[in-house]
This record gives sequence, structure tokens and C-alpha cells, in this order.
Amino acid sequence: MKIGTIGTGSITTVFLKNWLKCQQEIGAIYSRHQDTGKALADKFNCPKVYTDLNEMLQDDEIDIIYVASPNSLHFAHAKQCLLANKHVILEKPFTSTVEECAELIDIADQRKLFLFEGITTCYLPNLQKIKEAIRKIAPIHMVTCNMSQYSSKYNSYLSGNKPNVFTTAFSGGALMDLNVYNMHFVTSLFGYPKKISYTANIMDGVDFGGSLQFIYDDQLLATLNACKNTHAQSNIQIQGEKGYIICNHAASMVSSFDLYLPNEEVKTINAQEPGLTHHYYISYLLELIAHNDHDKCQERLQHSLEIVKLLVAARRDANIVFAADQQ
Ligand SMILES: NC(=O)c1ccc[n+]([C@@H]2O[C@H](COP(=O)([O-])OP(=O)(O)OC[C@H]3O[C@@H](n4cnc5c(N)ncnc54)[C@H](OP(=O)(O)O)[C@@H]3O)[C@@H](O)[C@H]2O)c1
Repeated sequence: MKIGTIGTGSITTVFLKNWLKCQQEIGAIYSRHQDTGKALADKFNCPKVYTDLNEMLQDDEIDIIYVASPNSLHFAHAKQCLLANKHVILEKPFTSTVEECAELIDIADQRKLFLFEGITTCYLPNLQKIKEAIRKIAPIHMVTCNMSQYSSKYNSYLSGNKPNVFTTAFSGGALMDLNVYNMHFVTSLFGYPKKISYTANIMDGVDFGGSLQFIYDDQLLATLNACKNTHAQSNIQIQGEKGYIICNHAASMVSSFDLYLPNEEVKTINAQEPGLTHHYYISYLLELIAHNDHDKCQERLQHSLEIVKLLVAARRDANIVFAADQQ
């Protein structure tokens, strides 16, 4: 398949390297600026750069678009691509509002197009391994995840600038940027919570860090933390009656984990290859497309919709209002 891209941030380079590893082609780069687009295109020997998005969407050689624009633009960009009959890989967090998410799913369904959230967590082989390990330590009563990264853009914020990720206009903040991975992780393992609460450190209306609680009926409590202006060790702990699991990696990667069972040696488990974090979800999507499996695609989209509902509920709880909420 030939891909076109929207957004020239560093994640697009990571994505395109993985796209090539999946033996797929790069058809065109879109950027608002010719020089920025050309710089990215040159890295991959991509022949075409567009500065007009409609022109790229009218290019019949392009089958699918990777959307990695700022969060608040995900909806408009993805909608424009779907209406031009292109398949879409839309970066996390999928959309700002539930209504936006539902509309995209509807358009993709009507046009029989593949629309897919670019989220690593759900497709990592180690997630399956954790599912198996959980059976050994269940019942589970406590889960704690911390995904924190001191953002390079925080220094820019402190200097008085307004990086997109730290604005409500662009649907920024730690919940949308980092905690969304913890949410995918916990819900992939334990389903959707009955109740949630979100407490955050807020500046300029944006959560720079926060603690999200997922409360389940059956004696299970999960605490999901994320912070963009502190240094920290990202990690995950899953506590069961018959043992526990510790992963000293972020939920976006889950590069390996340790299984602790009473009176047994600690077992380190890893089913992943280094550097393939993004490759796994791209391969999964390519399989769906190869098998024309729209049912599975819609099933995955329902999961994305549930995550967007939880993101919105968490924001409401912490009084975080985006420009997108008022549109
Ligand atoms: N999966 C992952 O591991 C991962 C990692 C990082 C980010 N992400 C996601 O990828 C997306 C992009 O993140 P980012 O940090 O690269 O964001 P960003 O720097 O704010 O913007 C990304 C790109 O969008 C374009 N853009 C910026 N502001 C714009 C505006 N006002 N109007 C139109 N286009 C604009 C720019 O490309 P041009 O100037 O070339 O048009 C820019 O390079 C986010 O949704 C983020 O959550 C995912």
C-alpha cells in the first residue's frame, strides 16, 4: 500500500521507518511548508511533497493516510481523508470528543474504509504474555501504572511559549498524551471500569500531570498516573492474590516484565523484538486490510470509542475544557 502523511513531527519519522519495515511504500508527504515536507520526504526518498492537503487526497496513487497532526485536528483531518475515500491511520488520542469519534466511525463504516487508531499498546505481543501471566496470579485487586516523561516542550512553555501539547485549543495535556496509553493497557486487560475519577495538576486549563482512578465492580482498583513535567521511572504493577507482575517500562512499549510467584524464582518474560513497537500495530492493520476484515476493524473502533468516552469523562471530572468541546 502507498501511504501519504499529515504532520511532520518526529513521530512521523518513527512511523514511516516501521511502515517500510512492513514492506509498504511511501507515496507522499503533506506539510504546510514545502521545506519541512521536503526535509522529511528526502529522508525516505519519497518523490512527492504536497502543501495542499486536497491535492494529496486527490492523488489516486495514495491508498491510506497516516494522520499525526495536533490532537484537536485529528477529527477534521481524518474526516477529510475518509471523504476522499482514503483509509486512515489516526494517531492517539483518537479524537477530542465522543461525537467526533462516532462521526468518523460512521463515515468509515458507510464507505467500507479502514480507520484505525495508531496506538501501540493494544498490539504488543507482551500484552498477550501479561494476559497469560495474570491467569497465574488472579484474582487481581490492584493495578498501578505510571507513564511519565519530562517533555522537551515544557522548557518552551516555561519560557512563555504555547506548545500545542500544553494548550486546550489543541486538546493537549498529560491525560491525552500519556495517560491514554495506560487507559488502553488497563482496559485491554480488565475491560472498562464502572466508575472513574481524575485529579490533576492544572496550569492554563491544561493537566501537566494527573492521577486517574478506574473502579471496577469486582474488587479491582486501578490507578493510572501520567506526568509531563517531572522525571520518573515509568512502570506498571499488577497485584494478585497468587503473585504480582512488575513492568519497568511505559505502557506504550511494555518491553518486558517480571512475574513474581511465592516460593519461585522471578521470571522475566519478553516476546518482543527491540525497535518494533510501532511495527506490531501496523502489521495488525495490514492483516485486517489484506483479509478485508471490516468487522474486526469496527470492533477495534468500538474500543477506541470507549477510550474517548473515558477521556471525556475524566476531563469532565477535572474540569478540563477543550476548544473542541465548544464546537
Ligand atoms: N504514537 C506515538 O508514539 C506518538 C508519539 C508522539 C506523538 N504522537 C501523536 O502524534 C500527534 C502529533 O504529535 P506532535 O508532538 O508531533 O505534534 P505537533 O508537534 O504539535 O504537530 C505535529 C505536526 O502537525 C503540524 N501542525 C502543527 N501545528 C499545526 C497547526 N496549527 N495546524 C496544522 N498543522 C499543524 C506540523 O506539521 P507541518 O508544519 O509540517 O504541517 C507538525 O509537525 C499527536 O496526536 C500525538 O499524540 C504519537
